[in-house]
Amino acid sequence: MKKTIAVIGGTGKAGQFLIRQLLSEGYALRLLVRHPDKLYAQQPSLLHPSPTVSVIRGDVQDLHAVSAWLQGSDAVISTQGSALPPNFSSATANILAAMKTYHLARYIVVTGLSIDIPGDDKSEWCRQASAFMRQQYPDTIADKQQEYSLLSRSEANWTLVRIPLLEQTPGTGAVSASLRDCSAPRIRAGDLAVFLTGQLEDSTYIRKAPFVASIETP
Ligand SMILES: NC(=O)c1ccc[n+]([C@@H]2O[C@H](COP(=O)([O-])OP(=O)(O)OC[C@H]3O[C@@H](n4cnc5c(N)ncnc54)[C@H](OP(=O)(O)O)[C@@H]3O)[C@@H](O)[C@H]2O)c1
Repeated sequence: MKKTIAVIGGTGKAGQFLIRQLLSEGYALRLLVRHPDKLYAQQPSLLHPSPTVSVIRGDVQDLHAVSAWLQGSDAVISTQGSALPPNFSSATANILAAMKTYHLARYIVVTGLSIDIPGDDKSEWCRQASAFMRQQYPDTIADKQQEYSLLSRSEANWTLVRIPLLEQTPGTGAVSASLRDCSAPRIRAGDLAVFLTGQLEDSTYIRKAPFVASIETP
């Protein structure tokens, strides 16, 4: 039987594609959502009760909700989006704490290309894009950088997926992944969904932070 995947951010731009991809590959899901009606409007098939999809209403900032959500899961994927004040690091702190309780190891998290990690060798456009994001959204980027610090100090088998601008379009399967630089300025949400799902059975990027982008077609 396929694993049960706990997903947060399933109603967002990346998350909607991720849920469809996970379902198409036969995974069971536990979805943490603040507004179930929004989820059902986006994914009407989920309105039919299913033994393999559980919708848990709650906020990732609430440790009790996070504990209830992660119970019975085999791995966690986060495509959580921005909030003000930014709360990515506190969300990941809650998730890591609950993962420990259930002896869960695998945590796959999406973040932006502006996060810096030792070993990076960003090209000029990527450095400029990172500097722009840091200037425009200093608190958000600082909080996301803090999220990386938490992950790197944790014992979890994390993968921090660094992406450029997200396009809400289906994928083509043409994706590049690199630990040093982001190869292109966009990623299709469909391509990201396939990459994230693939990480569930792939150890290549455990405790690493690949840049992932869609390969540009002429
Ligand atoms: N979009 C881009 O171009 C882009 C570019 C680079 C990096 N990224 C990164 O990619 C990730 C996903 O981005 P996105 O654009 O898909 O995000 P998004 O569309 O803003 O989606 C946000 C998701 O997070 C959920 N969420 C937010 N706060 C929550 C909370 N406290 N508790 C539970 N759920 C919560 C939202 O649920 P509700 O439905 O309840 O609001 C929604 O499902 C983020 O880390 C983002 O920074 C995005």
